[in-house]
Amino acid sequence: MHLDNWANKAKQMGYRSRAVFKLEEILNKIKFKKSFKNVLDIGSAPGGWSQYIIKNFPKSKVYAVDILDMEPIEGVFFFKESIEEIDSIGPINNLKRKFNLVISDIAPNLSGIDAVDSENVYMLNKLSLKIANDYLDLGGLLVMKTFQNNMLRSLRKDMELSFNIVQTYKPAASKKQSGEIYLFGAK
Ligand SMILES: C[S@@+](CC[C@H](N)C(=O)[O-])C[C@H]1O[C@@H](n2cnc3c(N)ncnc32)[C@H](O)[C@@H]1O
Repeated sequence: MHLDNWANKAKQMGYRSRAVFKLEEILNKIKFKKSFKNVLDIGSAPGGWSQYIIKNFPKSKVYAVDILDMEPIEGVFFFKESIEEIDSIGPINNLKRKFNLVISDIAPNLSGIDAVDSENVYMLNKLSLKIANDYLDLGGLLVMKTFQNNMLRSLRKDMELSFNIVQTYKPAASKKQSGEIYLFGAK
């Protein structure tokens, strides 16, 4: 499907971003049918992924964090904060090791300088990984966006140290030329 069609489909379905179809494809591929009690959405704005979780897993409690504002979504607890400060967010900190799913679609502002951008992506991914390790329960799942660059192999290796299953996905709704790619991990 053409990218504009994904955007139209998202609009028709009331989703704030076409990024929902990337998450949907990954969750469908891993054939996860159980519900998620607690979901942590880091880098959540404008809120497409949070909307998707609430719509498809209505019993879930979603905790969302972003440095940008996010319009309210029923059932989603939003915190305007950097993920660097996540431990200081009381309601999230109280749920250490009680999240069943962490989703990270975080992307830094790009500088255009490859080495700087790769480093920033890597730092945010490493932090997302740490957060997933601190907050996921046994059997918990992580879906994390990253980019195809020279740090990808090292990131995947780091992830393999703490996750039983690690898989890489390039969803159809993801622009081919964007270089973005998604890592999935199961504890
Ligand atoms: C691609 S968007 C997420 C889209 C979202 N998944 C959706 O479906 O609407 C990436 C987000 O990461 C956020 N971000 C970047 N650095 C961050 C940080 N240090 N802490 C929290 N959020 C951050 C950006 O503000 C941006 O909103």
